[in-house]
Amino acid sequence: MPPPLIIGSGLAGLSAALTLAPQPVTVLARRATGTWTSSAWAQGGIAAAVGGDDNPELHAADTLAAGAGLCDPAIVRLVTGAGPDAIEQLEQWGVAFDRAADGQRQLSLEGAHSRRRVVHAQGDSTGAAIMQALVARAKDTPSITFIEDAEATDLLTRDGIVVGVRYRDSSGAFHDVATRQVVLATGGVGALWQHTTNPLGSWGQGLALAARCGAALRDLEFVQFHPTAMDVALDPMPLASEALRGEGAALVNSTGEAFMQFAPRRDLEPRDIVVRAIWQQLRQGQRVFLDVRNIAHFATRFPTIHASCVAAGIDPSRQPIPILPAAHYHMGGVAVDADGCASVPGLWACGEVAATGLHGANRLASNSLLEAVVMGQRVGRSLRGRAEGLNGALPQAPAARLDSNESRVRALMTRHVGVLRDKAGLEQAVAELAPLAARDDRALVGLMIATAALRREESRGAHTRMDFPATLAKAESRSLTLDELGLAIPATADGNGAKARAAAFTGFRTNLRRKFSGMTLMGRFW
Ligand code: SIN
Repeated sequence: MPPPLIIGSGLAGLSAALTLAPQPVTVLARRATGTWTSSAWAQGGIAAAVGGDDNPELHAADTLAAGAGLCDPAIVRLVTGAGPDAIEQLEQWGVAFDRAADGQRQLSLEGAHSRRRVVHAQGDSTGAAIMQALVARAKDTPSITFIEDAEATDLLTRDGIVVGVRYRDSSGAFHDVATRQVVLATGGVGALWQHTTNPLGSWGQGLALAARCGAALRDLEFVQFHPTAMDVALDPMPLASEALRGEGAALVNSTGEAFMQFAPRRDLEPRDIVVRAIWQQLRQGQRVFLDVRNIAHFATRFPTIHASCVAAGIDPSRQPIPILPAAHYHMGGVAVDADGCASVPGLWACGEVAATGLHGANRLASNSLLEAVVMGQRVGRSLRGRAEGLNGALPQAPAARLDSNESRVRALMTRHVGVLRDKAGLEQAVAELAPLAARDDRALVGLMIATAALRREESRGAHTRMDFPATLAKAESRSLTLDELGLAIPATADGNGAKARAAAFTGFRTNLRRKFSGMTLMGRFW
């Protein structure tokens, strides 16, 4: 029986692989395992209700409030409820979270959290510390095989069922791997924009793979822009963590005005609100800065951010840090159920590439690493003991797709599918991306996001339409499949694929509805 194959080696992928042990599994990574993942770059930490004044219900309430009506309450309860156990599981895997002198875990405050509940490790290097521990653990686990410096280019399907993965190695040679269980853990889409905090490999390859094999994608228009990426002429941009504002840092404009001071939660409003306030300043011709001068022991408490400042010639103890909003996290993704199953049989997804319904229209800070661990574990459990065999040769993959339009796609996404959107801009993006999308996965992902944004004629959470500023009374989660776009994109040589995909999608939808009795949000596409 060929083992499952996990594409991606961030926190979600490695959590799934470690949970599956000792059952064999292969992890395919673009670079060395765990590197160039958003997980490894995470600064803030992991939100979990582990404080004495906290509980999962409060965490769930904050998550739902930030999500602007689009969260699935059942998933929110499931993930926030699993938070304390996830922290313990990470400790068992070797992660040492920062503790105070009394031995209690230190907890930070971030935007829209009603309690201090963000657990961190090595100050603002939480993601790096977690990934270092998990990579070591995974490399020590004999049941996990690694394929590194390899990029998945196609999911191979037969009769609408996943039967393999095609990947390209660093020499450019293609290889096909037979497997009946594929897990996408490929991360997000931030690198589709010119301003991003994500590794440049995070441009949505997993979404393209899923869409091209017929999987349903969900709520793609919801892209979170982080308010405070450092504006220091670097691509990607170094992050200035929200934890800084939790410790008293303030947003100021060129005249020194602290422009968030009249908002009820001041600088700690949900991210979408802070980003729009910054955008307003930029449109008025102001520059925006983060003033951290009142944070004691800044260099030792935030060594990563301090190092980024020094490298850019900024002394944060004397001068405010110039910042800009930057594409940071994708709330939308491959539609999955509570076990990470996608609509195509044989396909799972977890982490940022998946849309579980946890984040809704706007993710609560530091909920993403939590979701990565919890859903990675659930996917691992869901894969356990499966024994689907394979008959016959693998189907042919279609001709290799170009990926030569990177700068054009980034420019289009930045110009037309950014913080503020409108019909004319989105239509322009769709018109220019559609011809490219037939041959280029970056353009395809951009096109799908722009199409979803065009279809959503309201403003909600991170999706702001200047021509539709109101939020509709009824919150609707929406799906999109490649078939709806009517593009001439060659699928795998899968004769019965379309019919089988349609049947699988109907089954998936029915299942989701049954599993989530609380899910009243499905809209016209569901
Ligand atoms: C941050 O530290 O501000 C980022 C944390 C997150 O995006 O959850």
